[in-house]
Amino acid sequence: MANYQTHEHDVIVIGAGGAGLRAAIEVSSRGLSVGLICKSLLGKAHTVMAEGGMAAALANVDAGDDWKTHFRDTMRGGKMLNNWRMAQLHAQESPDRVRELEHWGAVFDRTENGKILQRAFGGHKWKRLCHVGDRTGLEMIRTLQDRGVHQGIEVYMECTISKLFLDNGKIAGALGYYRENGDYVLFKTKAVVLATGGVGKVFTVTSNSWEYTADGHALAYDAGAELIDMEFVQFHPTGMVWPPGVRGILVTEGVRGEGGILTNSEGKRFMFDYLPESTKNDYAATEDEAKEWVDATINHKKSEARRPPELSTRDNVARAIYVENKEGRGSPHGGVFLDISYQDSERVKKKLPSMYHQFKELADVDITTQKMEVGPTAHYIMGGVRVEADTCQSKVPGLFAAGEVAGGMHGANRLGGNSLSDLVVFGRRAGTGASDYVDALKDSPSINEKDIDAAIEELEAPLKREGGLNPYDVHKEMNQIMSTHVGIFREKDEMAEGIKKLEALKEKIAQVSVDADKRFNPGWHLCRDLKNMIIAAEAIARSAHSREESRGAHSRLDFPDADDKKWGTLNSSCSKDGDKMKLDHTELPEMPADLKELFD
Ligand code: FUM
Repeated sequence: MANYQTHEHDVIVIGAGGAGLRAAIEVSSRGLSVGLICKSLLGKAHTVMAEGGMAAALANVDAGDDWKTHFRDTMRGGKMLNNWRMAQLHAQESPDRVRELEHWGAVFDRTENGKILQRAFGGHKWKRLCHVGDRTGLEMIRTLQDRGVHQGIEVYMECTISKLFLDNGKIAGALGYYRENGDYVLFKTKAVVLATGGVGKVFTVTSNSWEYTADGHALAYDAGAELIDMEFVQFHPTGMVWPPGVRGILVTEGVRGEGGILTNSEGKRFMFDYLPESTKNDYAATEDEAKEWVDATINHKKSEARRPPELSTRDNVARAIYVENKEGRGSPHGGVFLDISYQDSERVKKKLPSMYHQFKELADVDITTQKMEVGPTAHYIMGGVRVEADTCQSKVPGLFAAGEVAGGMHGANRLGGNSLSDLVVFGRRAGTGASDYVDALKDSPSINEKDIDAAIEELEAPLKREGGLNPYDVHKEMNQIMSTHVGIFREKDEMAEGIKKLEALKEKIAQVSVDADKRFNPGWHLCRDLKNMIIAAEAIARSAHSREESRGAHSRLDFPDADDKKWGTLNSSCSKDGDKMKLDHTELPEMPADLKELFD
């Protein structure tokens, strides 16, 4: 029998970004015992990469805003593939979640008359993003962390969960290990909230750091939940491209929200040429009109000018940058130029302090006098665990998901700034959902000792195997397959070949081995992470291959248009069928008439 320590909680929350922290706070406020488990140190979460703001229709800057307009923008941005109920709850509840954060100590930037300041972001009709310079996610984490710790939440740091256990189909517990020493830890629990974030490490160039290896997606899939809409991967248009060591690090959309201009190697402001016909009327038609909008923004003046074309939705801007490069008009290191240096340098430093330091320290570029070089970076996955909108429960009783790991909220493309609000709206709801579930549960579930032994044996296999494959080589191969075959633009035969390569890669993952023992052994951790990532990679590739249209972040060269008739109401869904992945397409729930009217 293997050695492990045991902890018992009513609910465990896996992941300590915005969604996980908010869920844990909610459970704890209900008087239940909660364990918050983070793979990294508390406070280090991808939430901090949502730099430019949190979308909520407070109408502090643009009085015309309201939840209905936010809802409509979110659905249109998601190309109507969103779960309408999630988008509705999100738009209705995010203002309260902003006020709650403020009440708990978050210090937002202010308007001249002392209200929370809001800035423009792509696809949002009004200036809607409440922000703290370009450190909004960081402020959110700081605030939630303080709140959670003072509420007495028990935190398990540097702990990776590798298996969920079920009792009669219901959640019963989870097994993990501490990254430092490899010691195993068993959590007995009645409910699990997954808040593990995304899958960025499946791709070569990503804004995600080492933690984002699809853990929650894979845990849920293995436990019997569905993964929906996995073909929709968001490539944020602006990541750093140079020097190579920092490629992919995020350059906030806040730069464009404050008036940053994108140009190609010919000095042309190319985004004017890439606005989809259906949205053209929402954007400035000339450079003069765009300038008028920026001047009005800087001087807090009212203006009829429409927003600059750089504030088109992310999917569109990322594609435009890709095409500019492909057609030979890119910057020296494979991106384009982003310029805010024409503005007053003190303003730039005040509005974008992190960007100023990031470029100065990492690229020796002073953004108050020089242009930045930027290009697309894998940032976010819209797809994830299918959950019930109001409670965040998956189809596995006792298994909840919130934030990036959950699917449905953002449809085919997420609007910038909608993730921070998503985290707290649905983090809170998942906490409530899990607490209600626990309160209603009659019997305490139990875990079979044999299942624990088997899970530990699986973890230890790469340590016991001799002369196997190097996990780092296998990871690199996965990155190459995904970036080449299922990247920004996709095509049938390319993807079919990618799927074959991923099948072969599964065999390789079963053959990885590492030297030494469990202590301080990141190679061993990667062996486990690969098993998670291959599930996400396969789900992305299979879902993308099957969707024969272009919609939001899913761009097919062979099917360049949206096909509303055939695909407009279908979610893809991947689930486990023995050793195989089963792909289905299911109908979106129908939107009620009062919400439909908003689109007339
Ligand atoms: O560009 C950004 O600041 C990222 C925001 C987001 O992903 O929501």
